[in-house]
Amino acid sequence: MQSTTFSCRFLFQFLSRGVVGPGKPLRAQNALHPVLGWIPVRGYYNSAKPRYAGPGGATHVRVVDLRSDTVTKPGPAMRQAMAEAEVGDDVMGEDPTVNELQEVAADMFGMEAALFVPSGTMSNLIAVMAHCRERDDEIIVGDLSHLHIYEQGGSAQLAGVHSVTVTTLPDGTFNLEQLESKIRHNYPDPHYPRSRLICVENTHNIQGGRVLPLAFLQEVRALADRYGLSVHMDGARVMNAAVAQGVTPSTILQHTDTVSVCLSKGLGAPVGTMLAGSQDFISRALRCRKALGGGMRQAGILAAAGKLSLQCMVGRLEEDHRNAKAFAQALLDCDPNLFAVDIATVETNILRFHLQDPSLSPSEFCARMAQVGEGEEAALGQGIQVLMYPHFGNSVRAVWHLGISPEDTHLAIQKMQFVASQHAEKIRTK
Ligand SMILES: Cc1ncc(COP(=O)(O)O)c(C=O)c1O
Repeated sequence: MQSTTFSCRFLFQFLSRGVVGPGKPLRAQNALHPVLGWIPVRGYYNSAKPRYAGPGGATHVRVVDLRSDTVTKPGPAMRQAMAEAEVGDDVMGEDPTVNELQEVAADMFGMEAALFVPSGTMSNLIAVMAHCRERDDEIIVGDLSHLHIYEQGGSAQLAGVHSVTVTTLPDGTFNLEQLESKIRHNYPDPHYPRSRLICVENTHNIQGGRVLPLAFLQEVRALADRYGLSVHMDGARVMNAAVAQGVTPSTILQHTDTVSVCLSKGLGAPVGTMLAGSQDFISRALRCRKALGGGMRQAGILAAAGKLSLQCMVGRLEEDHRNAKAFAQALLDCDPNLFAVDIATVETNILRFHLQDPSLSPSEFCARMAQVGEGEEAALGQGIQVLMYPHFGNSVRAVWHLGISPEDTHLAIQKMQFVASQHAEKIRTK
């Protein structure tokens, strides 16, 4: 509710002030983009961020923000825990709340130790740096992984580590034969880098929140052991995976050496990621974190929120998974039949779907969902702005989270049906 009010206010400000970001003027003709209210921009894998239109002339508007689970905001209990947190200088190892969070995380993940770091991106980078300590080290990483695509090539740019990619399959796994073929067998032949680390992602973001099967992880572990490699999991959403599989996080993580788990996505903390592994790995990670400027001082204020995330917010992820499935089912049931989605692949809180009519592109569909259309208030009783992104492979991505209730999901379904029927009407009368 709170986030709806805030978003509406923001959207109104967006129109009245004419800005798209700090100090960035938005030209009038762009602000009033003639058809859909936002400017398409070419972007990697069609994931350009649209600029959404305001509510138009609508008087009652609800915003349902399905762009990402990173938009969650801390609620009153979390804010109170933050306000009351005991703090100290964490760079000196003296913040009791950070220390406690690190113990809670290590225990939960079945790892010897954990480190609180500012973001998932920094956590993955530190993992690469701490695993790959020699100049000729190489990581094997999925070609559609967040680490490879969305982290600015930090492994190469900042850690000086070369990557070789393996094809990410639609369920987020790899073909194990292909994976094995990427391991360098020629060391110490001076022509080649030296394989050090296999990176997996669970749940898989680009592939729509897919959960890696435990049997796959077991096979990756066996392969890594055979060649003396380590396994790192970008488990930004591994808690979603654990909930979907009905297992403890440590059941999943028994197959990996290290893991990075985000607190600031579905778990609702404002900031922070936990990196976990052996004591020795975390000692090295601590040094890397400092070198990257990620040593925070009285970070207990943030750690207090993170502790609540791990202890109280995991159970509710189930609700996000249920809401994502309900929306997916509604897409399938929609008349006109405009959408394609494989319901069996909707395993967690991220939904990817396709439009079956080439005359309605993902970008155009997203723009219509975000705009209060003509006649909408009369038809639906209010304006509904549903924010989602065009995504990889000509699809649309919608993500459920803490800020989205079953009622919000129902509104999003109503809006989707309205947009679909308007589109059908437009085609009919052409
Ligand atoms: C799978 C995955 N890994 C890592 C990250 C990076 O997290 P952060 O935004 O905290 O840097 C994200 C962010 O969305 C993600 O989806």
